[in-house]
Amino acid sequence: MAPIERISVGMLGLGTVGAEVFELLHDKRTLARSPVPARVTRIAVANPEKARTLPASGVVVTGNVWDVVEAPDVDIIVEVMGGVEPARRCLVRALQLGKAVVTANKQVMSQAASEIFAAAEASGVPVRFEGSVGGGIPLVKPLQESLAAASITSITGILNGTTNYILTRMERDGAALSEALDEAQARGFAEANPTEDLDGSDAAAKLAILTSVAFHVPVSIDDVFREGIGAITFQDIAHARELGFAVKLLAVSKIRDGMVEARVHPALIPLDHPLARVPDEFNAVLVEGDGIGQVVFSGRGAGGPPTAVSVVGDILDVARELAAGNRSVPHFYPAVDNSLSMRPMEDVVLPYYFGLLVVDRPGVFARVAAAFGEEQVSIASIVQKSRGQTADVVLLTHDTPERLVRKVIARLKAMDVVAQVRAAIRVEGTL
Ligand code: HSE
Repeated sequence: MAPIERISVGMLGLGTVGAEVFELLHDKRTLARSPVPARVTRIAVANPEKARTLPASGVVVTGNVWDVVEAPDVDIIVEVMGGVEPARRCLVRALQLGKAVVTANKQVMSQAASEIFAAAEASGVPVRFEGSVGGGIPLVKPLQESLAAASITSITGILNGTTNYILTRMERDGAALSEALDEAQARGFAEANPTEDLDGSDAAAKLAILTSVAFHVPVSIDDVFREGIGAITFQDIAHARELGFAVKLLAVSKIRDGMVEARVHPALIPLDHPLARVPDEFNAVLVEGDGIGQVVFSGRGAGGPPTAVSVVGDILDVARELAAGNRSVPHFYPAVDNSLSMRPMEDVVLPYYFGLLVVDRPGVFARVAAAFGEEQVSIASIVQKSRGQTADVVLLTHDTPERLVRKVIARLKAMDVVAQVRAAIRVEGTL
């Protein structure tokens, strides 16, 4: 590619993140860090009639994404509109036309990354997507570059701010889930459809991206097991704390015995775990690997200003490549590791926490314990607290394959002395 002397940026989207990107990119300090002059020349927005003041003049605002994607004068497409379509088609087309791409779109990068990277490779142009995971926390580039020589064995993250905020408010103030969700929405970090936060889909998309980058395997959101926080109660959070654990919505991927497991679910983690005290809407990611031990990244995982820092950092990075005339070497998952396959969730082995409500009469405790034993699930500790007619039974198991846990749950639910299987929560981060 011939070196380029000035860079014209075409934006797709001008929402919470897009508006911040526009402003930050045109800030004098940012421009001083660009190797060649760079400015936004075209923006596609959903509603071009809406009145808006742009802090720069001479920008074409259109309602048609193709007016930006196909424009011969645009060198970099910055996609901050979200959603799979039309983003996927726009990015693939832009790459085919030889335009570089910067995106903050977790949906498209967790569902169509292979196609996007194939198009980038064919054209020899760069693609960057730091803003698609963890807002302003640098994750993609450290994994791709700084930690390229580390054999990463696991990634454990708090990747959804909304659910972390809800769990924090439940634990700290006994708030109800719906009340805390209303607050998260008012504070602007919940998704437009907050079900995606609550059911783990948002974190699963981000985990798919991080897993692909860290383990050199194309993992899509559909490969990630998901369970949300809907069943978590204050009671379980309080019991967990008495046992020395915090409850978090974790996003975990691991390599064990040549297989990758990728899962998002609530988990008990020891109170001295690096992620146990991550509060409110903050995100954090613990990376473990040979040579590096534990590395923790944490910070603001959502919101316009932090995400814009990641997006504009990517734009500057791409600008450097274009200014140098490099033919870009894609490094999303170089040298795909074909030896790795996905482990089905039923084969994942973890300790479990159980919260049961049982009838309080002689022999019940023994019958409950026997149900675990007969399904080959080993109990590590068990506590019963009487409430008169009924009793709370709280127990922790040893490492158990998920398949057996499911059998125990079905069996407990069928027992007349078990009034309720209130909770069955995985335990992560113990030795
Ligand atoms: N809804 C997301 C969150 C926003 O709560 O973390 C960032 O992707």
